[in-house]
Amino acid sequence: MVKIDMTGKNVLITGAGGGIGGGIADVFAEAGAKVYVADWKTENAEKKAEEIKAKGGNAVAVTLDVTKKDDIYALIDRIVKEDGNIDNLVTCAGACYNIPYMKTTDEQFRTLLEINLLSVNNTCQAALNYMVPRKQGKIVNIQSASSREGSPICSHYSSSKFGVMGLTQSIALAVAKENINVNGICPGIVVTSLGAQQGSNLVDVIMKSSGQSREVILQSLVDRNIPMGRFQTAEDVGYAALFLCSDYAQNITGQSLNVDGGMRLN
Ligand SMILES: NC(=O)c1ccc[n+]([C@@H]2O[C@H](COP(=O)([O-])OP(=O)(O)OC[C@H]3O[C@@H](n4cnc5c(N)ncnc54)[C@H](O)[C@@H]3O)[C@@H](O)[C@H]2O)c1
Repeated sequence: MVKIDMTGKNVLITGAGGGIGGGIADVFAEAGAKVYVADWKTENAEKKAEEIKAKGGNAVAVTLDVTKKDDIYALIDRIVKEDGNIDNLVTCAGACYNIPYMKTTDEQFRTLLEINLLSVNNTCQAALNYMVPRKQGKIVNIQSASSREGSPICSHYSSSKFGVMGLTQSIALAVAKENINVNGICPGIVVTSLGAQQGSNLVDVIMKSSGQSREVILQSLVDRNIPMGRFQTAEDVGYAALFLCSDYAQNITGQSLNVDGGMRLN
């Protein structure tokens, strides 16, 4: 029987105190992996790790601000010291603030690039320091539909997420000969705190102009945009990440997989 079994493997998931990262953590734990639940919100990382442990899984909560390069390196050193290696990395920490394009300041732009893009580069490099000599390891970088299409109210977010796609492809090529797979996932619409922040302005504007209720607008959003008829769940993204980190994805690298119910076909 084909089954994804991560027993004996570990995974570091950044942003795992959040919605999508938390779902990915649950899926890896269910598959038997030791999960490092990393987030700069310590309380949320601890809550997720406790939830996993209560279900019999293996999880370690760690406080990590992904904009702090030294802390990333220290954490990955610690993981390798504890477990002997780092098998899988999923970069999921991210932020988005809706701001009209002409009002976006340098500081806002720089901040989002640091959280969403530079952090991914630093975390990948830190992990690859150990993966490359072993010639073993799998990385998944969480991207977005905004990695494929710009937005007038999230230009800095979209720029950062286009960047993560280019970075993913570049790293994949750089380490392809080292037997390491580097891929991305573009989630569609997952109802999380970040998803709500991204969508809320738009929904508010439509509510005001049309007089329709939030529920009606959300349903029409699904009806018009998502062929499979529902928003995505964090677990939908988790199962894709698990597959991309499994031995069954040995020959897949540099790809960005849409997990969006058919919303985008590119
Ligand atoms: N929700 C969606 O619809 C959607 C769609 C496409 C892509 N994404 C991407 O998925 C990822 C997760 O988003 P989410 O929807 O779960 O949002 P979320 O807000 O629930 O989770 C994001 C997590 O990242 C953490 N984080 C933010 N900055 C950090 C930092 N500097 N260091 C460490 N942790 C930090 C937050 O504390 C939070 O726990 C993001 O990269 C986002 O861009 C989300």
